Amino acid sequence: MAVVLFQSIMSINQNLHIMKQRGCAWILTGLYYGDEGKGKIVDLLAEKVDLVVRFQGGANAGHTLVNQGEKIILHLIPSGIMRPNVKCIIGSGVAFDPEIGLEEIKTLVAANIIKDFSQLLISDQASLLLPIQKILDQAREQERVKIGTTGRGIGPLYEDRNSRRGLILGDLYASDLAGKVDNLLAEKNCLLQYYYGLPPVRTDEVLEWLEPFKSEFAPFRLANLPQFIDENLSCGQNILFEGAQGAFLDTWNGTYPFVTSSATTAGSACATSGFGPSDVDLVIGVAKAYSTRVGEGPFVAEESNGTGEWLRQQGQEFGATTGRPRRCGWIDLPALKQAVRMNGTTNLALTKLDVLAGSKEIKAVVDYEYQDKKLNYYPTNLEVMKNLKPIYKSFPGFSEDISIYGSYHRLPKAARHYVEFIQDYLDVPVSLIGVGPDRNHIIDRGF
Ligand code: GDP
Ligand code: IMO
Ligand code: MG
Repeated sequence: MAVVLFQSIMSINQNLHIMKQRGCAWILTGLYYGDEGKGKIVDLLAEKVDLVVRFQGGANAGHTLVNQGEKIILHLIPSGIMRPNVKCIIGSGVAFDPEIGLEEIKTLVAANIIKDFSQLLISDQASLLLPIQKILDQAREQERVKIGTTGRGIGPLYEDRNSRRGLILGDLYASDLAGKVDNLLAEKNCLLQYYYGLPPVRTDEVLEWLEPFKSEFAPFRLANLPQFIDENLSCGQNILFEGAQGAFLDTWNGTYPFVTSSATTAGSACATSGFGPSDVDLVIGVAKAYSTRVGEGPFVAEESNGTGEWLRQQGQEFGATTGRPRRCGWIDLPALKQAVRMNGTTNLALTKLDVLAGSKEIKAVVDYEYQDKKLNYYPTNLEVMKNLKPIYKSFPGFSEDISIYGSYHRLPKAARHYVEFIQDYLDVPVSLIGVGPDRNHIIDRGF
């Protein structure tokens, strides 16, 4: 079993502290279409920080943590929660579903993981998700353009946040809560009734539904996230910002409209949590050793054949939130290169390398062909994508079970060759390599 030492991370921490008293901000994001293994890497890195802030997305996310065989899937609670000394914060950019949030808290309390409520805080500015937003999300999926959403109300919630009708957690305690609910429902009910032919939702039933959450969430309220972050950094605390989804699900730079409804790249951590980019020391990008996507939308590297099925079975590629089978293919390097640029990624965590064991040949997309010309960037334009052909490079496979290896030099030569090609192509150091689902299944090559 691999044992993680993390001396390199320790030393980077120490060096940064010698240079400045202010703590470090690290941002972690997914570099592809989500499910890259972010939860596992956050759980691991949380050992080295004081706070973990989940900065965007909602319960559309499913972050899996495995510790000595015990598996937990988190949708809203930050993946640092397994570390009792780490404070976890649900940030202002999060779509907070109070039902799912409460269920998660109760499960973690019952499992003796949350022992002290002071370990968790929820920003008063986090968007509060209401059942009507889920109803609308699901109704929209019956429309002509199906996005393949998780049905968790994410699109309607962010829409309401941006149109300034949506509720935030702090509104639960506002004197005019009823007026705020009324204001939202007046418009949404028109859509429900007259566009989708569904029954309207009454203000009094929403208020009744919200009532128990007032006391349940009172102990977790955080009034001013930017102030809290600044004060913690100022006294030398280190903060890890946990992203959800992945670069090409980003509303602005993903495969629009087949995207989620929040900004998923590193800059979003600053924008939603209220701190500046100059506080950021590391931007960790998480990518799988192959590609997956769940939901509709273009996926250039997709292998809709036996290879895709082999990857799905080997990697157990079924959604952590919806259980849907994930679409699979070989790694897509031009796309990852673009994701690295969009995030300003400084270090890479390459997960699920073990899944490739047993393949005679491993392939990687290294270029695209479009109208007889080569393209080396990911053209998120759907029209271009329709006519894009991936160009592959082939690598020798390996057969060994690599989950037992804790150091890089013990990996089979073919596995190292593959990792080094990825590192050279992306021009970013592969600092962590996932060799199995467990927290300890990791090779730390240094930051
Ligand atoms: P996230 O949404 O990015 O946190 O990723 P998910 O949890 O949705 O999906 C990643 C899946 O891969 C989970 O089942 C993890 O337990 C698993 N996983 C993460 N890293 C590794 C790894 O290095 N090897 C293997 N075999 N599984 C991994
Ligand atoms: P994590 O954090 C993978 C996908 C959905 C759909 C699209 C829009 O676990 O990596 P939404 O419900 O957000 O409106 O759906 O985005 N999607 C994800 N795919 N991992 C996720 O999160 C995802 N969150 C949303 O499948 O295609
Ligand atoms: Mg996931």
